[in-house]
Amino acid sequence: MKFLTILSVLAFVASALPGGHDSEGTANAPCKPGTGKDHVSPRPHIVPSPKHPRLPVPNPPKRTRVCHVETHGDGVTDDSAFVLAAFHKCNRGGHVVFRANTTYIIGTAMDWTFLSHIDIDIQGTLKFTDDTDYWQANSFRFVYQNVTTFFKLGGDNVSIYGGGTLDGSGQAWYDLYAADIYILRPVLIGIDGLRDSVIADLNLRYSPMYYTFVANASNVVFDGISIIGASTSTHVAKNTDGWDTYRSADITIQNSVVVNGDDCVSFKPNSTHVLVQSLSCTGSHGISVGSLGQYVGAYDIVEHVWVGNVSMHDASDGARIKVWPNAPSAMSGDLQGGGGDGRVDNVTYDGMRIDNVDYAIEITQCYGQKNLTLCTAYPSPLTISNIVFRNFQGTTSTHYAPEIAAFACSSTAVCGNIYASAIDVQSPGGGNLSYCLNQVEANLDVTCTDTWLGFN
Ligand SMILES: *[C@@H]1O[C@H](CO)[C@@H](O)[C@H](O)[C@H]1NC(C)=O
Ligand SMILES: *[C@@H]1O[C@H](CO)[C@@H](O)[C@H](O)[C@H]1NC(C)=O
Ligand SMILES: *[C@@H]1O[C@H](CO)[C@@H](O)[C@H](O)[C@H]1NC(C)=O
Ligand SMILES: *[C@@H]1O[C@H](CO)[C@@H](O)[C@H](O)[C@H]1NC(C)=O
Ligand SMILES: *[C@@H]1O[C@H](CO)[C@@H](O)[C@H](O)[C@H]1NC(C)=O
Ligand SMILES: *[C@@H]1O[C@H](CO)[C@@H](O)[C@H](O)[C@H]1NC(C)=O
Ligand SMILES: *[C@@H]1O[C@H](CO)[C@@H](O)[C@H](O)[C@H]1NC(C)=O
Ligand SMILES: *[C@@H]1O[C@H](CO)[C@@H](O)[C@H](O)[C@H]1NC(C)=O
Ligand SMILES: *[C@@H]1O[C@H](CO)[C@@H](O)[C@H](O)[C@H]1NC(C)=O
Repeated sequence: MKFLTILSVLAFVASALPGGHDSEGTANAPCKPGTGKDHVSPRPHIVPSPKHPRLPVPNPPKRTRVCHVETHGDGVTDDSAFVLAAFHKCNRGGHVVFRANTTYIIGTAMDWTFLSHIDIDIQGTLKFTDDTDYWQANSFRFVYQNVTTFFKLGGDNVSIYGGGTLDGSGQAWYDLYAADIYILRPVLIGIDGLRDSVIADLNLRYSPMYYTFVANASNVVFDGISIIGASTSTHVAKNTDGWDTYRSADITIQNSVVVNGDDCVSFKPNSTHVLVQSLSCTGSHGISVGSLGQYVGAYDIVEHVWVGNVSMHDASDGARIKVWPNAPSAMSGDLQGGGGDGRVDNVTYDGMRIDNVDYAIEITQCYGQKNLTLCTAYPSPLTISNIVFRNFQGTTSTHYAPEIAAFACSSTAVCGNIYASAIDVQSPGGGNLSYCLNQVEANLDVTCTDTWLGFN
């Protein structure tokens, strides 16, 4: 493949034709915005607010060359080879453009873990085919919870933005899942080993499963992400979590809007230094730690998490921490899991607006156990400590009225330093009771009751 070098300028323009020629006109360096079909988006300016993450927002050097992704343009033929060609050609210092008003058909599972120092400017739409047989046979398999993904994104110093759309063609999957719950539905954005990167200004639509799974990642910022997608049939879109983080540190998720049917954001095992802020979530299961401790022999850590300035609408929960109790093998008939070890430590939820949410706050160390006596008789080995809830406002749903929250530890020995203050939340009838189990009630500025309307 010939690369065209232009004078002393470090720019060259390359088409993305696999093994093909350079088909585009020359451009002035470095990455001139251009107009019309050659438009190159500027990088988004990301302002962390209200909190600043521990590490600076990644801002690698400017890119000096542009590759436009070609397309068959017929709306059916797989464009994946063009995508890979452009990524390889513009890797290490380039800017890949998916043109505006253009739909790229993606029908091949692609490994994008080789990316390094690249901007990926998605102005158009990447539409994943609904060939459920192909994807079930070829999607990437992650070790955790049978997660599979359309593609695997990894590497370092990657910036993805552009205002375009990733469309998972979820309807075929929602319908198939209704017929067979054992099918493996791909996650729309599968991240494995991504470092010092930004994903911003994108629309994520109709994911078959979770929208974003963030594994083995560090220092990744998500900003300005719009997530929407519901089923148009009677088969509900299930497990459509906005983000799940796993084995990852220094992840920031902010300034985004999520309309979905499962966790808005969920912190899975080994999520540390995660910052979630300025989100609007509608229809979700809240912003959740866990569930953790389901598997004997595992050691799950979630710590140094800050969640704030979130508005939560039409949800089952606002802030949620779910941990399984202990599971002696003799109890295996009664228990679906539990007994896993680990810790949830230093988690703060500061600033949440509640609107038609079943429980504004729900912390349980009895997750998955229907017998409360057994939960407290076999306290979780997975400890919970240094948890703060403050500045909650709004009105719950009628679901657990007059309760607005539940604070349930399996024992004071494994769960403590839980604080709640400025919880200005009422149920629609005006009640504001909170279920409290094994709490230091002086730390909770709520009115405790000992019935648990929301128990499992
Ligand atoms: C995309 O389509 C819109 C609406 O038709 C048009 O205004 C815009 O100029 C187009 N953009 C490009 C880059 O062709
Ligand atoms: C990626 O960028 C970060 C700064 O954001 C830098 O510290 C790191 O060395 C870069 N990684 C590589 C492999 O160049
Ligand atoms: C993460 O990294 C570990 C260790 O290298 C590896 O075993 C695992 O497959 C990676 N991916 C996921 C999703 O855990
Ligand atoms: C993963 O898939 C296997 C086989 O279908 C199933 O037995 C297992 O329960 C699944 N695990 C999870 C965590 O969903
Ligand atoms: C989480 O971290 C702990 C402590 O380093 C480790 O023992 C455990 O295996 C990790 N779990 C996962 C799923 O990576
Ligand atoms: C809080 O979030 C909203 C969007 O939900 C945003 O408009 C506002 O600027 C954020 N406030 C701060 C202080 O960051
Ligand atoms: C608690 O987590 C915050 C991040 O939310 C971090 O800044 C702080 O240092 C942590 N505190 C401790 C004691 O580790
Ligand atoms: C809960 O478990 C205890 C202890 O095994 C048992 O005595 C009790 O009957 C159980 N309660 C229910 C409702 O099953
Ligand atoms: C709960 O409501 C009562 C009656 O309106 C009020 O006096 C009390 O301050 C409220 N408690 C909290 C924690 O908001």
